[in-house]
Order: sequence, then structure tokens, then C-alpha cells
Amino acid sequence: MLNHPIGIFDSGIGGLTVAQAVHQLMPYENILYVADAGFMPYGSKTPMQVQQRCEAITSHLVDQGAKAIVVACNTATMAAIQALRERTQVPIIGVEPGVKPALALSQTGVIGVLATPATIASSSFQNLCERQLQGRGSIVYQSCPELASSIEALHLEGEYMQRLLLQYVEPLLAQQVDTLVLGCTHYAFVLPTLKQILPEHVQVVTTEQAVAQQVKRRIAMQTCSASALGKVQLQTSADVTNLRQQVTTLWPQLTPASIANNTF
Ligand code: DGL
Repeated sequence: MLNHPIGIFDSGIGGLTVAQAVHQLMPYENILYVADAGFMPYGSKTPMQVQQRCEAITSHLVDQGAKAIVVACNTATMAAIQALRERTQVPIIGVEPGVKPALALSQTGVIGVLATPATIASSSFQNLCERQLQGRGSIVYQSCPELASSIEALHLEGEYMQRLLLQYVEPLLAQQVDTLVLGCTHYAFVLPTLKQILPEHVQVVTTEQAVAQQVKRRIAMQTCSASALGKVQLQTSADVTNLRQQVTTLWPQLTPASIANNTF
């Protein structure tokens, strides 16, 4: 079990932000990453559709020997984490928008959450926000229907991305938001562009480092004992060439052990 991979998946390349953090924190661990790009975006699907995809990918990762599975997608975590935990023996680690750290950081007590339409609409997310708020502060929600797909298409900077981000961020700034939560794993890839358009006092919260720490805690008894750098294997339900190009752009330091197409 020790050398078995950590399985990580997302609708596309968003979860690579989490895979990078896991790889940085535990470089000897093997990682098997699944990009479900054939079914991207999850953010416009129903919870049941997302849950079915998550169950198929989780079964595949378990069959491949994954010792833990990271649902590196906020939308999928909100729709499916409970069902996945009920059906799977290995630890399942999810990703939630960092509402709690954002409320702790905020001076105005008004935080903003950028997320997919499905996450914003989800009752799990609304419950999470109510639990964290407990009458203190307030949350302004912004659904970003085009953002993850634009990032998937590698529109990471320049005028188009700046305008798109402004369109989502301006209504939040108008309501005195001083802390922004990136509630979708894709969004961390446009953090530099977001910072260009945000006033200096606005802080941004992402969760990939915290998730990597959580993965480390959950596999504590099964950490890899190898001294060589872990292998990172990538699989996609869509085009391999596209994934290769995305990874070259987003994670240039990585030499993947393999990139393959798979039907999950
Ligand atoms: N990366 C996913 C998330 O964290 C969503 C992207 C999509 O809509 O497929 O929510």
C-alpha cells in the first residue's frame, strides 16, 4: 500500500493546483491524476450528473490501487462527497471554499465567494456558509459560469481574462468585500491576473495548501518510503494532446510519467 498512488481528480485541470501542492508537500508520493475533461464543466451539471461522474472515477482510482482519493473540485465535493465516502473504503478528501479562513482574515466582515453556478446553488455549500457565519459577518456570492472553461482553454491573462474577472468581481467590491474566496480549483491559475485588477487591500483565499496538509494527515500511516521522486501519471476522458499542452503551460516543472486517455 505504501507506494500506491494518491488518486486526485477534477472535471479538468483545476485539480492540478491541488496536485501541485500535494507533490510539493510529499514529493515521494506517486500521484494518479484524472481530468474528466470529456464531461467538463461540472459547474453547469445537476448534482446527480456530477455524482455519477465522481462515482465512476472513484471506482477507477480504487481499481488502480489508490490509497486515498482527493476530490480536487469544489463542485464535485458539494455534490458527491457524502455518497463517495459511504461507498468507498479508502480515505476520501474533499475541497471546500475557504469561507472559514476568509471570515477570520476579513476586517470588514464582508467576504466574497467566487464559484461555479452548481456550487453556489448547492445546499451543502449554503449549509457550510451558515455554519461558519453563525450570525457574524456576511457573504456575497458570485457565480462565474464562464470562468473555469476559459481557464481550461488556457485564457489565463490579457484583456479577455481581465474583463471576465472584472465582471465577476465588481459587484463584490461594490458591497465592501475585502476578502475573496476562490471557490473553484481552476481559479487559482488566474490569481496573478486577479491580483492585477483587485484593489491592494483585498485579500484572496485559496485552499490547495490546506488540502495537501489534510491529505498528509490522512495517509500518515501509509506514506511512501521511497527516496526517489514520486511518479505523476495523468489520465483524461478527452484529448491527450490538449492535456499535454495544458500541463506544459500550467505545471512546466513536471515531467509526467505518462499521459493517457481513458473511459471512466
Ligand atoms: N474545478 C471545479 C471546482 O472546483 C469546477 C470546474 C467545472 O465547472 O467543471 O468547482
